[in-house]
Amino acid sequence: MRTQVGIVGAGPAGLLLSQLLHRDGIDSVVLESRSRAYVEGRIRAGVIEHGAAQTLIEAGAGARMQREGMIHQGFEIAFAGARHRIDLHGLTGRDIWVYGQHEVVKDLIAARLEMGGQILFEAEAGAIEGIEGDRPAIRFGADDKDQVLDCDFVAGCDGFHGIARPAIPASRLSVFERDYPFAWLGILADAKPASHELVYARHDRGFALFSMRSPEITRLYVQCPPDDDINEWSDARIWDELHVRLEQGTGFRVKEGPILQKGITGMRSFVAAPMRFGRLFLAGDAAHIVPPTGAKGMNLAIADIRVLARALVTFYREGRTDLLDAYSETCLKRVWLAQRFSWWMTSMLHRFPGNDPFQEKVQDAELDFVTRFEEGARSLAENYVGLPYDRV
Ligand code: APR
Ligand code: PHB
Repeated sequence: MRTQVGIVGAGPAGLLLSQLLHRDGIDSVVLESRSRAYVEGRIRAGVIEHGAAQTLIEAGAGARMQREGMIHQGFEIAFAGARHRIDLHGLTGRDIWVYGQHEVVKDLIAARLEMGGQILFEAEAGAIEGIEGDRPAIRFGADDKDQVLDCDFVAGCDGFHGIARPAIPASRLSVFERDYPFAWLGILADAKPASHELVYARHDRGFALFSMRSPEITRLYVQCPPDDDINEWSDARIWDELHVRLEQGTGFRVKEGPILQKGITGMRSFVAAPMRFGRLFLAGDAAHIVPPTGAKGMNLAIADIRVLARALVTFYREGRTDLLDAYSETCLKRVWLAQRFSWWMTSMLHRFPGNDPFQEKVQDAELDFVTRFEEGARSLAENYVGLPYDRV
């Protein structure tokens, strides 16, 4: 099998790349180890930056988001018994979309298949070869057969646990990482959202987040120890923590409903650099992970793909390699700005085990600065809606 760009992974990164390349007449094949039902049902974050939403619309995959997604013009932060609104629209002139990542994946898959795009599900890439030459190949298994996809370029969009990043010699890769001493327990509940906007809460018992997926479905998170077993968290215990941490006597009432799904996710910050080695380009979670506070994961993946698609299109149209050569450096600027923001928001809102009183006072001051000073609020808001692509 042969194509121009071989893509490993049908998450938002791989699917969007395939879609953007198609619109410029470049052929690609997406290999995905899981089934279509699995990737379409995988629940993840749900905040889409203004620019990322525009990108999906321009890619021809934004129509359902525009119909069913929810535009949010602000969010709230609850701490010390009071709620404070961050007026995203007023501070930046831009809004965000609340729309589940798995819905984005469904829309991209539908758009790809409608245009005759090739996505091979249950096709697991085992090796990426020849990336230092100009004829790389991906070995994969599908239909119980070993197969080979020959290509001009390989896009490693296979997430944190994929095979693309390890295909780069370890001696050529620098890794920067930080683990956090807590995790998020997330639930999806069949309950109408109790507020129109998201609420991020800092409380002595730990962080909590109120979010939503639709006018009928609430998404909620509580901070928990990273090694907690989900079976230790009865529904009643989860709701108790959500009420205490989110409500704080502010008048906000979390509405309960049947829990449709629950799970615990660890948190880390991770960057591998460079994001390109020879003809292999890493994008999205394959190259970097952010903690979920601030919801930058999918937005960063989309930003990488904008850069990669443009670089590949310029190569095929004009024979120029300068944008491909600049890919890693270009992406890493935004990646580090998003890392800084996600680390900062995580540090400001969570309870760190050990209870360092100095750190807690600094957290109080951070929250005071972003809620009482417009300069602080504006910095938070600009990062939250997404720094403009033309500057990073
Ligand atoms: N062969 C084929 N597919 C693979 C392989 C492999 N060897 N290894 C992993 N994959 C697939 C996974 O099954 C997954 O569907 O690659 C896909 C990677 O998709 P994502 O994990 O969604 O990563 P990405 O597209 O970079 O999107 C980033 O996802 O995890 C969230 O927070 C993250 O929101 C961010 C977004
Ligand atoms: C979500 O809705 O899943 C969500 C929202 C905001 C975040 C993280 C996750 O910061």
